[in-house]
Amino acid sequence: MTTPRKLFIKTYGCQMNVYDSERMAEALGASGYEATQTPDDADMILLNTCHIREKAAEKVYSELGRLKPLKDVNPDLKIGIAGCVAQAEGAEIMRRAPVVDLVVGPQTYHRLPAMEAAVRAGERPVDTEFPAEDKFEHLPKGPRAGRGSSAFLTVQEGCDKFCAFCVVPYTRGAEVSRPAERILREARDLVSRGVRDITLLGQNVNGYHGEGLDGRDWSLARLVRALAEVDGLWRIRYTTSHPNDMTDDLIAAHGEIAQLMPYLHLPVQSGSDKVLAAMNRKHTAAMYLELLARLRAVRPDMAISGDFIVGFPGEDDVDFEATMALVRAVGYHSAFSFKYSARPGTPAAERAVLPDAIMTERLHALQALITQQQRAVQESMVGREVSVLFEKSGRMEGQMVGKSEYLHAVHVTAAGISPGEMRRVRITESMTNSLNGILI
Ligand code: SAH
Ligand code: SF4
Ligand code: F3S
Repeated sequence: MTTPRKLFIKTYGCQMNVYDSERMAEALGASGYEATQTPDDADMILLNTCHIREKAAEKVYSELGRLKPLKDVNPDLKIGIAGCVAQAEGAEIMRRAPVVDLVVGPQTYHRLPAMEAAVRAGERPVDTEFPAEDKFEHLPKGPRAGRGSSAFLTVQEGCDKFCAFCVVPYTRGAEVSRPAERILREARDLVSRGVRDITLLGQNVNGYHGEGLDGRDWSLARLVRALAEVDGLWRIRYTTSHPNDMTDDLIAAHGEIAQLMPYLHLPVQSGSDKVLAAMNRKHTAAMYLELLARLRAVRPDMAISGDFIVGFPGEDDVDFEATMALVRAVGYHSAFSFKYSARPGTPAAERAVLPDAIMTERLHALQALITQQQRAVQESMVGREVSVLFEKSGRMEGQMVGKSEYLHAVHVTAAGISPGEMRRVRITESMTNSLNGILI
């Protein structure tokens, strides 16, 4: 028997890249690779890159600089660039960085085994096509990694929304939904391996419109209803959603399907209608707030998280204050906020950027407000009962950590809890980034 070659994948960016990295590991598993946790002993290193904000390509070049000495020690080491930077700048990377042996975009990594063989034959393949075939159906099934109780499952990819600041429509291509039958098959397979909590992934997941079991187009709500019937699947979440695709049936589903968790990541980006229009978001702040009111009408304990961009071209003090007002009105469980970053090729990149000092000041003010809200939400959990799906041991002796239905990390110190178990817990204390509780 030949000894397996070792594969190290470094993942940047969103959950979809995390999912893709697992699939790439499986694909190369079929070519005799097994995963390693360090680049030092690897025979193949893949950087699964993200292009969403600035200096994406620079980060790749500096990482390549750090990896180069490994290649001097092990001339058989192969290095590949995958993901969204590969899609956007793959050919350029190949030209500028001789240490790179292959470039593979997010839609062609099912071809990795063939590309790997080409690399071993001395070629430097680049594949950043948007092929017609469904890569998930063409992935060689390598040995599946053992896993915990939670998993991601990609149901939709790509984006047709073209927000003025965003590279995703260019790096991931047009919106494509996977057929429900394949998603259900994958979900059942995950559940058979102990998964209890599945997060459905898509750049625009609530715009899902895949072929249903009845041959008709299914909405995300319809898909969630089918998944809720999978025995042993206790929790369903989905991310990331666009406000304009929050349909009536999906809102209703939150009030009707017990497995659908009361947690929603619904980015709004700004609270100013002027800025939202300039961003090409095609919704107003009032529309967003009205949506949340309808969600909370069917599910009063709904936890909301969001994304914000500060310093979009043209944003003035009044616009920024509108964002702060929106955040105060919502009461976020958590939210990510970023300084605007001009991305080459996007419409907004043509516009004048604000001084960095203004962006920094606004970012700090927004983040302080969000942190304050996050703390307040955590404090409000003290004394309440939640369900915790336990995942692993904590740092303290006898401690276990799991997630509540609201995605809070919860620590419990008690004997006899195993990973993968769900128990009722009373919250006793709010820590910086987690909660403590006791079994009921
Ligand atoms: N599909 C999702 C998320 C896309 S990227 C959505 O529609 O919301 C994740 C987040 O990165 C975005 O929500 C946005 O807040 C941020 N982002 C995207 N492009 C950016 C840019 N050019 N500059 C700063 N932040 C950006
Ligand atoms: Fe980017 Fe907008 Fe599409 Fe989200 S909806 S991926 S922010 S273009
Ligand atoms: Fe980044 Fe691509 Fe995801 S740009 S955020 S890895 S879709």
